[in-house]
Amino acid sequence: MKLVLLGPPGAGKGTQSMVLSKKYNMPHISTGDILREFVKKSLPLGIKAKSYMDKGELVPDDIVTGIVVERLKDADTKKGYILDGFPRTVKQAEDLDAALNKSGSAIDMAVYFQTSEATAIERLSGRRVCKVCGFNYHIKNIPPKKSGVCDKCGNQLFQRPDDKEDTVRNRLKVYESQTKPLIEYYTKKGIIKEVSGDLGVDGLLEVLSKIFRDAKLA
Ligand code: AP5
Repeated sequence: MKLVLLGPPGAGKGTQSMVLSKKYNMPHISTGDILREFVKKSLPLGIKAKSYMDKGELVPDDIVTGIVVERLKDADTKKGYILDGFPRTVKQAEDLDAALNKSGSAIDMAVYFQTSEATAIERLSGRRVCKVCGFNYHIKNIPPKKSGVCDKCGNQLFQRPDDKEDTVRNRLKVYESQTKPLIEYYTKKGIIKEVSGDLGVDGLLEVLSKIFRDAKLA
């Protein structure tokens, strides 16, 4: 199944993508993760992207769409994939559809994580990420066994620079103005399903699994 996960920052898209990726054995493609990897390696694209990411602004459409279209040529995406954080503008969605159309493919479903602003802010302010393996925690909701240390690899956890309060507020504004119109875009295509992003990780997985079964995608 070819999925797009939509929703505000902090909705839990990345966390649920990891769970779905394991359950359905399909790649999790997060443009945020890819861009952060470019930043970490100080690649030219990463240096350019960082100036936008640090302010909570979107990286230009052509850069991000180019990255995703290339990634979707990899063999592991043939049976399906989860796009997390992409598309983020109507232009990105149109360009993605055009690129998929050329190869006779299409997105099967866009899942909209309807999430309150209060939940998004609480989740982002408590998020901690492993410096080495990138695993995500939350200081209250999904805490590591030992404070500040990754359960998976034992390395240190840190707070993403764009999870600071001012940047979070800007990311939420950018989401409202530039990403929310995608709900209408996928509604018109008849492929959107709405779930509550406020649910816990396991509850949400149960709801999504039923949606995929009912749609005969899994
Ligand atoms: P990106 O990394 O995509 O950030 P985002 O969309 O703002 O999403 P987040 O990662 O903040 O939230 P999430 O919904 O994945 O939540 P998570 O699962 O981590 O993008 C970062 C930047 O890159 C952008 O600002 C932009 O500059 C650039 N960029 C990326 N893609 C782009 C694009 N397509 N175009 C242009 N620019 C782009 O969960 C959050 C916290 O809550 C965690 O602590 C987690 O442990 C906890 N949690 C998760 N689920 C639950 C749950 N169900 N119950 C309780 N706690 C939970």
